[in-house]
Amino acid sequence: MFRIVRRKEMAGGKIILNEIKAPIIAQKAEAGQFVILKANDTGERIPLTMADFDANRGTITVIYSVAGRSTLLFGQLQVGDSFQNITGPLGRPTQLNKVSTAICVGGGTGVAVLYPIVKRLKQMGSRVICILGARSKELLIMEEEMNAVSDELLICTDDGSRGRSALVTELLEEVLRRERPGIAVAIGPVPMMKRVSDITRPLEIKTLVSLNPIMIDGTGMCGSCRVEVDGKVKFACVDGPEFDGHKVDFDQLIQRLQAYSEEESQSLHAHWGAEIHRCNMDEIKVADLAAMQVEEIKAE
Ligand code: FES
Repeated sequence: MFRIVRRKEMAGGKIILNEIKAPIIAQKAEAGQFVILKANDTGERIPLTMADFDANRGTITVIYSVAGRSTLLFGQLQVGDSFQNITGPLGRPTQLNKVSTAICVGGGTGVAVLYPIVKRLKQMGSRVICILGARSKELLIMEEEMNAVSDELLICTDDGSRGRSALVTELLEEVLRRERPGIAVAIGPVPMMKRVSDITRPLEIKTLVSLNPIMIDGTGMCGSCRVEVDGKVKFACVDGPEFDGHKVDFDQLIQRLQAYSEEESQSLHAHWGAEIHRCNMDEIKVADLAAMQVEEIKAE
């Protein structure tokens, strides 16, 4: 069993951090890798990229949006409770080299996935400029932690409630007028990663994106994370989750993600329909993982 040793609610409980005792995984984990968590006998297996890991404490940290039936179950676990099972670390670690300057762009809960990469770049001696964005101040996560590992931190929100009222891609374009980074890393909603890649492509800035959000079972079996990269079929859970953003077929990916929304909606209602009105769950979006992205695609 994998015990929760720290739990933090963000965005009014819509985003949750769990630090979990998992000493063997913590020892082996590297930036960019993910774990598959299962809350209990009836819960689904959910892959999440680790937001942090600490070999000394023997813990890993995951951050997730409470956005569907399975993450709802996760969110009900308190400090002292345990996940029934966690498998990992899985996926290929982020391939990083020291560069003079790196630009890291994070949107929504993608900021959590970005954090260990920024930390690693900093440890390697790179100068790191971070741009973080969210729809509003309440949904902006890990600002303090990112500030501690960045040389320059720029914040924006859609409604201007924190930082600039702008999109992360607007700030990126501004930064690129004065900087020529050796690498860009973008993690967040798929449309955001697509736009970042479109901006950096003509400038020939190597750009990494993380396709963790499209994973379902995380084992290479379900095929849901299939993505075309450089004209070849890849699986995010086996070949990724990080890819060269300039080679990902984002248009095809966005189409496929939208195809999940109806099934996710039916799944949530089938399992929770009766309780939805009793416990005020109406506000919880109908999705885990892929459909979370659908919500973000619709918001673009
Ligand atoms: Fe199912 Fe990759 S998540 S094959």
